[in-house]
Amino acid sequence: MKRFQVTEATVSDLDDIVRVLLEGCRAAYGILNCTKKDLGVEVLIADMATRKPAYFLERLSDPGVKFFVHRTPEGVVNGFIEAGFRPDGSGQLYAWHLSPELHRTGVARTLMRTALEYFGDVAVHSNTTIGTKAYGAHRNLGFTPIGMAGPTPPPMVAAGLVGWQQNMIMNREVRAALLARWDRLDAPSA
Ligand SMILES: CC(C)(COP(=O)(O)OP(=O)(O)OC[C@H]1O[C@@H](n2cnc3c(N)ncnc32)[C@H](O)[C@@H]1OP(=O)(O)O)[C@@H](O)C(=O)NCCC(=O)NCCS
Repeated sequence: MKRFQVTEATVSDLDDIVRVLLEGCRAAYGILNCTKKDLGVEVLIADMATRKPAYFLERLSDPGVKFFVHRTPEGVVNGFIEAGFRPDGSGQLYAWHLSPELHRTGVARTLMRTALEYFGDVAVHSNTTIGTKAYGAHRNLGFTPIGMAGPTPPPMVAAGLVGWQQNMIMNREVRAALLARWDRLDAPSA
């Protein structure tokens, strides 16, 4: 049983998904060191605001990509997770974002749980920036680093936000154990 209701997004959710993404990135990357005066997270957000609507329109229109979303009682998206499959059949997470007022409420767990259940019994890949809360959350859930960390993408570097981006993997056994733990925690009598 899930504690929160999660549904699939449609193209009509585009604006809300971009808004939640930008809120998430502001919260996540605002804590990174900024190496250049007069630049920083707001420069990045302004740049993303010009590019991300077209990018997410394409993603939302792609039948191979799933967006699982949480909504306000009025139906406005306030959190999402973006998931797809790699050619080898393993899962790939592309984004996991929640409006800041919902952090640590368990909504993010329900989003992650829905994506992990959607993938089935396969390993799951993700990628996140070392030092962010999301990195701590990934580690806590059982994702482990895979390969060397790389520099943050060019738009972040251009905004002076320098950090390290890490590919991560959750193996099948860890996924199964995590879902079993969440089943117990989210059971009605728990
Ligand atoms: C990443 C994000 C969605 C997590 O949301 P959240 O509300 O903090 O997550 P929840 O409280 O539902 O916790 C989900 C799990 O992650 C763990 N977790 C969350 N934040 C954590 C942290 N800072 N350190 C360690 N573990 C953490 C929790 O322990 C929880 O596992 P549990 O339920 O088994 O205990 C949220 O912080 C966010 O939107 N961040 C900004 C955007 C971002 O960086 N997205 C990721 C890009 S890959």
